Amino acid sequence: MNTIFLTLQRLLNQRELLDPAQRYVSIDDLSPATLLVYDPALAHALLKSDAVIPADLLGSSLEVSRTPAGAVPTIESFFSQTPLLNHGEVHREMRKHLMLRYRHVQALMESWLDSYSVQYFDSLEAGSAIRADALVSGYVNGLLRQMLACELECSVSQLPAFPDNLIFEFLPRFRDLKIREAELHAAVQSLYQLLGERNRPMDDVWVLLTLVIMGHQPLLSALLYGLTRHDGPHRHGALSNDDAELFFRAVAPVDVISRQVEREVCLEGVNFVPGQVLYVSPHLLHLHSDSLGLPGPPERSMTFGMGPHACPGRKISVLVTQAFFNHLAQASHVLVDTAGIRWTRELMLIHKEMT
Ligand code: HEM
Repeated sequence: MNTIFLTLQRLLNQRELLDPAQRYVSIDDLSPATLLVYDPALAHALLKSDAVIPADLLGSSLEVSRTPAGAVPTIESFFSQTPLLNHGEVHREMRKHLMLRYRHVQALMESWLDSYSVQYFDSLEAGSAIRADALVSGYVNGLLRQMLACELECSVSQLPAFPDNLIFEFLPRFRDLKIREAELHAAVQSLYQLLGERNRPMDDVWVLLTLVIMGHQPLLSALLYGLTRHDGPHRHGALSNDDAELFFRAVAPVDVISRQVEREVCLEGVNFVPGQVLYVSPHLLHLHSDSLGLPGPPERSMTFGMGPHACPGRKISVLVTQAFFNHLAQASHVLVDTAGIRWTRELMLIHKEMT
């Protein structure tokens, strides 16, 4: 595993290693050094600046796994045809198109989310405990497929299978690359066919894929984490929008937002030089602002990022979280087994089975 990711992982899990008097820490000996930024004001300025662009997550994953460029063409297309790695005018245009579709999906969702949730919890057997991870993944997987089926006006069974965790398994291990490429390729072919039958633009395929791929792992981790806490959201009655936002602030499942400096810039008194790689961890940043006594209302949350790449799935995630915990709280016949689950941060909040 690449040493930068090992260092990042260590810092994410042992925040006492960070000096509270500083605003960032160097995580390698390169010149310029790669930085992990944890000061809120500096991180905000960075993510809003047009002098920094998304770091080439895919390129570095290919390099780490010694995979030649072009070996995973569909995965590469996913990154280049979606806003993730783009910037400037190209990114703005992609975002505009994506946001139109997301708003439509959101509006549709408000009409079916409750009935989907009622049906899901009703379908669970009374009296026998269900594993917490199975409960959450059944709910999230079914929901993302339902979202896509509504948007495409097709049945859930007409949809292809999608690779699990396409984004967050990339770094640093890049496991099962060929399998994921084949799954994504097959999914893209089926979506092209569904779009063609509906006379819809073929480019929509990439926006549709972001719907099922981008939020999958963070939603799974967030809901499961809440479920395994003794003071989880389902124990507090109906979840308001602010409650859900505060919940996400506390969980912050996406651990690393990465950027690369494109042109020299001075932000909050710190000089950054072209090529320099920077990481922001929402989790560490929240802990740091709490330790400084900085205000922590939902709007200070970095869980969904900030600036031009801020998560367009934030509202959808809040709706899903409210529906999941509120319906679970009412499903008194559902017994949940949360034994043996522990948590670690590996660029993403990940659950492990205790052995
Ligand atoms: C708990 C749930 C979620 C969390 C914590 C989360 C977090 C994030 C973060 C931190 C970013 C910014 C990355 C950056 O600045 O480089 C982001 C971007 C993104 N998210 Fe989410 N996300 C979640 C759910 C979702 C969902 C449900 C969707 C889709 C329905 C989604 C779609 C996207 C897309 C397309 C981007 C890229 C935006 C761009 O580059 O312009 N996310 N997300």
